[in-house]
Amino acid sequence: MSEPPVTLTQPACPGQSTQAVHASEARTKPHHALVEPIFQTSTYTFDNMADTVDYQTAHIFGVETGRYEYGRYGNPTIAAAEARLAALEGAESAIQVASGMAALTYTFLKFLPSGSHLILTDDSYRRTRQFCEELLKPLRVDCSVVPLGDFAALEAAIRPETRLVFSETPSNPYLRVLDLRQFAEIARRHHVVSVVDATLATPVNLRPLDFGIDLVIHSATKYLGGHNDLLAGFIAGRSELINLLRNYIGVLGGISDPNTAFLLLRGMKTLAIRVAQHNRNAQVVADYLAAHPKVECVFYPGLKTHPGHEIAASQMSGFGGLLSFRVRGGQAAAFRFLDALRLLYISPSLGGVETLALHVTAMAYPDCEPEVRARLNMPDDLVRLAVGIEDAQDIIADLDQALSQA
Ligand SMILES: Cc1ncc(COP(=O)(O)O)c(C=O)c1O
Repeated sequence: MSEPPVTLTQPACPGQSTQAVHASEARTKPHHALVEPIFQTSTYTFDNMADTVDYQTAHIFGVETGRYEYGRYGNPTIAAAEARLAALEGAESAIQVASGMAALTYTFLKFLPSGSHLILTDDSYRRTRQFCEELLKPLRVDCSVVPLGDFAALEAAIRPETRLVFSETPSNPYLRVLDLRQFAEIARRHHVVSVVDATLATPVNLRPLDFGIDLVIHSATKYLGGHNDLLAGFIAGRSELINLLRNYIGVLGGISDPNTAFLLLRGMKTLAIRVAQHNRNAQVVADYLAAHPKVECVFYPGLKTHPGHEIAASQMSGFGGLLSFRVRGGQAAAFRFLDALRLLYISPSLGGVETLALHVTAMAYPDCEPEVRARLNMPDDLVRLAVGIEDAQDIIADLDQALSQA
């Protein structure tokens, strides 16, 4: 007797690896291709004037038609990448933009009218701080910086004109971890928009919206793309907020392109397994460095000694791939260590498959006086490692031989 046919059903509540591979895709794609095609078009056609008028009327009343008008307002490949990221984040909607910085700056510009105020936590990406201090201030948007995790300072900094609070978690380079529930609760109580840059975490390790955060931002250049071959950004959250941003960005014009969306769709398919390997490798590397006599201290939330360890363990499902550490012997020793690397590259960025190392002050603060670096708590012996997905023993072997020369 032959076996009864197996009935395949779609999982009701797919896991993140399944979502990373399948979320947002149409079951049948053009020409029955398995892979989402790249719709490389800047404009779309209408059959006749009735079609044109119907579309525009639907648009005015916010009715979803599933069709497109012009490339600056939307593209099916980009829409597929946006829907996949939204599924991974548990968001109603998401928008893909030209870079992580575009995601941050558009969000700030949209929700911060002239005369308003925002609060930023310290240890945020330096370009974000630079944007707030140098570009928002001339637009009469004032900015306060409070220590990440100091909720009394956060509450005290809120003014009647505060419209937005922003933080990164984990932060860079010290991997501080924000208690998202407290942050979201304070924002909600004061009726301000809460925005979190969770680039370092990825939705595999952390979903800020689940904790009540309004908008989550990613530099998709990093783990979401995952291969150091693209620049992009995402903003995800409630449709009401994302639609406001979408209309705004359609006017400003800094949109992303369909080729990048295709690479992001491909990158996201392997996100869950890549992040699992980044998590594993970074923990092994952090443990190794923490026990090394040439290392002064290690900053990694997976270490029990890290001040953010408990909160990270309670709200994240992995500690991520980034860590930093201080080399004993100051800048000269740190430089000797970096120059001796053979497998690891000296390079900025993070989140790709290759392990990258950088000297924080030489790469990110070359123009700062020593007093400014001291005020920013950026010592000259600080090295950042973006741990990749190679075999952990090979990363350790390279670190070992390089540290022996530091
Ligand atoms: C945490 C974080 N947010 C945002 C950005 C900016 O992203 P992009 O380089 O894609 O503009 C970076 C870049 O390094 C980053 O590390």
